[in-house]
Amino acid sequence: MKAIVVYESIWGNTAAVAKAIAQGIGTGTPALSTAEASAEAVAGADLLVVGSPVFAFSMPRDMTLKSIETNKARYKKAPDLSQPSMSSWLAKLPRGNGRAAAFETRIWWSPRGATTDIENGLARAGYKRLAKPQRFIVEGGEGPLRECELDKAKAWGAELAQAMK
Ligand SMILES: Cc1cc2nc3c(=O)[nH]c(=O)nc-3n(C[C@H](O)[C@H](O)[C@H](O)COP(=O)(O)O)c2cc1C
Repeated sequence: MKAIVVYESIWGNTAAVAKAIAQGIGTGTPALSTAEASAEAVAGADLLVVGSPVFAFSMPRDMTLKSIETNKARYKKAPDLSQPSMSSWLAKLPRGNGRAAAFETRIWWSPRGATTDIENGLARAGYKRLAKPQRFIVEGGEGPLRECELDKAKAWGAELAQAMK
């Protein structure tokens, strides 16, 4: 089975979750940023697990990243703005016929999230939902992740691998 975890991560929380999910899926499963997950890298994937942070009640868009760039002096940690937004990555995702699952990192009370948009993008490219989306919780605007979220991510990865059998 070719499984790939794809993430966008500005402060590292979603990247850490993506790596734990990939570990749970099994040895050799890569966790790639939206900059690394080229059309060639995802071609022929049987399972795509895709996640992003929630910013402004939504999946990150180019506009959101511009706004973070403009306001970057406000943040304690410097934002990594080198990756395409999840929205633009999904818009360029070539058609595939594998299964998919979506996840997001967020603070606990957000009224809206990112996974509906991510699932819609994956479905538009032909990927069929394997499992319900998952949320991983951070303690504040730029993290850190709540304790246990990485264990939860690894366990979810293992469940996804099992569901693919
Ligand atoms: C500018 C900004 C806007 C945010 N907006 C939301 C939001 O609307 N809902 C939410 O649940 N979390 C929100 N968060 C929290 C982020 O989703 C959370 O910190 C996320 O884990 C960051 O992921 P990253 O470290 O992978 O970039 C926001 C954080 C920032 C800095």
